[in-house]
Amino acid sequence: MFRLAPYDMGLMVSTSAHRIAVIGGDGIGPEVITQALKVVRAAGVSLDTTDFDLGGARYLRDGEILSDAVLDQLRSFDAILLGAVGTPDVPPGVIERGLLLKMRFELDLYINQRPFIGTAPGHTQPHDFICIRENTEGPYVGEGGVLRKGTPREVATQGSVNTRTGVERCIRYAFELAAKRERRHVTLVHKTNVLTFAGNLWERAFNEVAVEYPQVGTAYNHVDAACIYFVQDPHRYDVIVTDNLFGDILTDLGGAVSGGIGLASSANLNPARTGPSMFEPVHGSAPDIVGTGKANPTAAILSAALMLDFLGEVSAAERIRGACASPVTGSTSEIADIIASRIVG
Ligand code: IPM
Ligand code: MN
Repeated sequence: MFRLAPYDMGLMVSTSAHRIAVIGGDGIGPEVITQALKVVRAAGVSLDTTDFDLGGARYLRDGEILSDAVLDQLRSFDAILLGAVGTPDVPPGVIERGLLLKMRFELDLYINQRPFIGTAPGHTQPHDFICIRENTEGPYVGEGGVLRKGTPREVATQGSVNTRTGVERCIRYAFELAAKRERRHVTLVHKTNVLTFAGNLWERAFNEVAVEYPQVGTAYNHVDAACIYFVQDPHRYDVIVTDNLFGDILTDLGGAVSGGIGLASSANLNPARTGPSMFEPVHGSAPDIVGTGKANPTAAILSAALMLDFLGEVSAAERIRGACASPVTGSTSEIADIIASRIVG
């Protein structure tokens, strides 16, 4: 007996307590993750959690970002739940690359799945679309370098790596997902008119995979045009597939037009299940509001629901989403308490 998760994260038999590695991280990360775990427990799911003290504070204390030994420990968990990483006390990129991107790359979390359900400003009807962001390639790989640093003739290059295998597996995932959704439609978002090398690879892979899914409709948008449509006509989208950097930028906009970034959830998936997948809100560590109770835990709660889908706890995930469906106001813990009470009650 099995059920398919609504976000098509594959199948898994639910057994005893799920073993979850918890990385609260920096800023508001630990606050929202505490609340997310509270809500998951209120939904009756039993989790066996292990906290990993990683992030900016840990790095400043003893230099640990994410050693290979700790990464190996993470590999043995069923899933990883992460709050947020990045702190103003550490130069940009150190924690982001060394912790977050290292997990995405080393655990081969090649899909970054970000659902957007909400009513955009100025609209009356809700939209329901989902971004599939390639999560291991593009400009995120760190290819490039700097020459003659600090001189007027300084040169900095930052390459975008797109492999046929990496692009195709991402596109294929998007089609598989779309084939199971009601509207059965995938839009490729890129910038084929300027990024002609990478864009052409994406376009050919997209068109070739599309042939295998005659039941799935397709469209293509340049990324700049997609920004307009996200605001003016988000209803046109069902599944969007795009590269790592475009997906990063577009999904912040997706959050902004879907009730705010405080509601935006995400799943970093290894669909082959050769290791744990990782679940985190789209938002950052927001150091300016740490400890104020202003952080909205809903994005973390909905990310935990995506984790439950992936773990096969689909009914609990659905109940959590149902409890988050109508707006909640209050402090970080009040919002979570209200959501938890809606589940129980
Ligand atoms: C995200 C974040 C990360 C990214 C940062 C923190 C490295 O913005 O998950 O969208 O750029 O991928
Ligand atoms: Mn981002």
